[in-house]
Amino acid sequence: MNLRKEIVTQSPDETFEWAFALAKELVSGTVLTLHGNLGAGKTCFIQGLAAGLGVNQPVTSPTYTLVQEYDAQLPLFHLDLYRINNELEAASLGLEDIFDAGGITAIEWAERIPNMLPSARITLNIEHGATEDERRIVMDIPRDLLPGTSEFTVEGFTNSTFPFQS
Ligand SMILES: Nc1ncnc2c1ncn2[C@@H]1O[C@H](COP(=O)(O)OP(=O)(O)OP(=O)(O)O)[C@@H](O)[C@H]1O
Ligand SMILES: [Mg+2]
Repeated sequence: MNLRKEIVTQSPDETFEWAFALAKELVSGTVLTLHGNLGAGKTCFIQGLAAGLGVNQPVTSPTYTLVQEYDAQLPLFHLDLYRINNELEAASLGLEDIFDAGGITAIEWAERIPNMLPSARITLNIEHGATEDERRIVMDIPRDLLPGTSEFTVEGFTNSTFPFQS
């Protein structure tokens, strides 16, 4: 079963906070794909994830770095595949090893490699909202990838509560 949660944020900080809270619930081996236009907030979300996982290095998006590993109790693998044109070009990245490394993998522009993704994964779609700083974030989460929280199943959370925190 998949849980679907939609949130609206009004600032980068708010997006970061949601990701920070989500990170606390993630289990070893989880893969997240982030979808959305340039500047949607994918990296912003991953910065929040990193902080929530306890990464204490800055998370950036160097233009030509496709895979960046950050050390933490659950290590974070940040993939930005914007510059990949097809799955053949991704073949040398060692994706299987990354997915099996027991960390958390967050992939920007995962639509470049649709057939190389694990079927059990968290999907995040981020869209611009009505104002410059508004973002709509839709999360699709297989229930067994968030084993620690039952609150998440409740529909209709307001934006003022963090459902990931019990
Ligand atoms: N509510 C919000 N949530 C996230 N970012 C926001 C929000 N409002 C404004 N921003 C701004 O939008 C930009 C998001 O940039 P970010 O690098 O995270 O996008 P991205 O989706 O990773 O883009 P790219 O595809 O180029 O990697 C930042 O400049 C951030 O400050
Ligand atoms: Mg980015």
